[in-house]
Amino acid sequence: MKPRVFIAKPIPEEILDFIGQHCAIDLWKSDDPVPEQVLREKLLEAEGLLISGLRVDEQLLNQAPKLRVVSSMSVGYNHLDIAALKKRGIIATHTPGVLDDTVADLIFALILAAARRISELDHYVRAGNWKAGRQDPLFGIDVHHSVLGIIGMGRIGEAVARRARLGFGMDVLYSNRTRRPEAEAELGARYCEMNELLEKADFVVLMVPLTEQTQRLIGQEQFARMKPTAVFINASRGQTVDEQALIEALRNQTIRSAGLDVFEEEPLPANHPLMTLPNTVLVPHIGSATAQTRYDMAMLAARNLVSALQGIKPDHVIPELLV
Ligand code: DGY
Repeated sequence: MKPRVFIAKPIPEEILDFIGQHCAIDLWKSDDPVPEQVLREKLLEAEGLLISGLRVDEQLLNQAPKLRVVSSMSVGYNHLDIAALKKRGIIATHTPGVLDDTVADLIFALILAAARRISELDHYVRAGNWKAGRQDPLFGIDVHHSVLGIIGMGRIGEAVARRARLGFGMDVLYSNRTRRPEAEAELGARYCEMNELLEKADFVVLMVPLTEQTQRLIGQEQFARMKPTAVFINASRGQTVDEQALIEALRNQTIRSAGLDVFEEEPLPANHPLMTLPNTVLVPHIGSATAQTRYDMAMLAARNLVSALQGIKPDHVIPELLV
């Protein structure tokens, strides 16, 4: 008998066909989050679960007596309780690699949009404010040949560094748990302590995974170290930043502007103070959101799911579960 799997989000038909060759599928077809009650029912029988950002904790696992694998269609896995999964001996997988260039493209879009005030000036034109005469109030800052600081030099950080160095002639600084000799040799990226990076970078990109150690890594003290002309970009997780401190820094012009793909609370509430600040570019957690990349992520998540259920070690087991 084929193992039963619950797929908690819509995925492309061909990928469903692939999973269906090996598993009996229950599919949540709506883009709305799966209701708790439905999830609970499905998990009574499911041996496999495919999700994207759904929280999987001990309480949920207690309702899933047959579960053997959780396959997340994401590179980040802070929504998974690793200790609880380990305790139950459940395999969990993620989808690194296939989204690196897509996320790096978005980070560059945020850098450019914040530096050249693209969203602000788009509104300005649409509002009919473009009149002949002085353009000084519309001035932005240069991205090319400036200094980029990357906090968290994983694969995505490296893809950002490559664009910065080879495309925009930028000097790249990075801070990371470990040195990245290849990035240093190929891109001239210079490793430094985070404080030095904060003080020297014109653009600070935060790309660390969310862990206990990186929670609110950037707060008032770190914003105070940045240049008053600095642009801050976050495409990691909202909780890596003290959002209140960020709002203060933007309001007081401790830093110049920010480009944000992630927030403490998502979706960002309509009355959130960030919405009122003209020196922000805000997008709705779309780092990996191109049709092709989301397809590739779904396919990888499907392969991880099927391999684990066949007793074959998947290629992308979450690293903490391997130790
Ligand atoms: C991920 O894969 O973790 C991204 O945040 C999704 O956009």
